[in-house]
Amino acid sequence: MSRILFKQQFTEDVFLMRLHAPLIAEERQAGQFIILQTDDDFGERIPLTIADADTKEGSITIIFQVVGKTTKQLSTFSVDDELPALVGPLGTPTHIENFGRVVCVGGGIGVAPLHPIAQALKKAGNHVTIITGARTKDLLILENEMKAIADEFIVCTDDGSYGRKALVTAPLKELCEQTPKPDMVISIGPPVMMKFCSETTRPYQVFTQVSLNTIMVDGTGMCGGCRVNVGKEVKFVCVDGPEFDGHLVDFDNMINRLNSYKDIERHHYKCFVE
Ligand code: FES
Repeated sequence: MSRILFKQQFTEDVFLMRLHAPLIAEERQAGQFIILQTDDDFGERIPLTIADADTKEGSITIIFQVVGKTTKQLSTFSVDDELPALVGPLGTPTHIENFGRVVCVGGGIGVAPLHPIAQALKKAGNHVTIITGARTKDLLILENEMKAIADEFIVCTDDGSYGRKALVTAPLKELCEQTPKPDMVISIGPPVMMKFCSETTRPYQVFTQVSLNTIMVDGTGMCGGCRVNVGKEVKFVCVDGPEFDGHLVDFDNMINRLNSYKDIERHHYKCFVE
């Protein structure tokens, strides 16, 4: 059981919650996730990345977007409600070291899992450039928190309503063309964004890490739902990842498999709200 200590609505379908979870708050490392359930026994288990933790309060922060039945149900929970189940921290932590100049690229809700990674990279002594992007100004999240970490901060919106009217790949390409070029890029967001970030850095041979957490289902290594092709190998995102070398990931295969869940997701969402 885990009590909800705080809830904030960022946009129509994006929410932040702080959950009472002192042991997870103590143990978690950047890049790790939790699994929670909104129903007893037969409820769906969903993985969510830990966006932050406060060991004094004994809490972890999650940020989620309503995309299906369980996230819709989670969004109806209020402060002091209890989640029936919460386990973590899970997944391989992000490899953190002083790479030199790193660029962190976050798109949409992907800024949430990027936040603790950018924090850890900064703490390790890196020069951190953060690029965040969203379709429009109202969909940008954690702007102040990311600004507080960054040595250089760039905001892009698709419609030009805030920051630069550009896709995140435009400033990323410019940074790759500079001398010195980045030593490492980490990109987290919609798979298509991570694909094009990886294609942008490939000609410059800048190591690019991506987080494939959106394809995870139960996070146990048993359902096989999170299979991805990385180089010549098949990997399970929940146990081998969630981070991989973006230049080796078969994004087209991943995007096709993600789309294959869409109908069933829509069906259960509809049954829940109607
Ligand atoms: Fe089920 Fe990875 S999410 S095996």
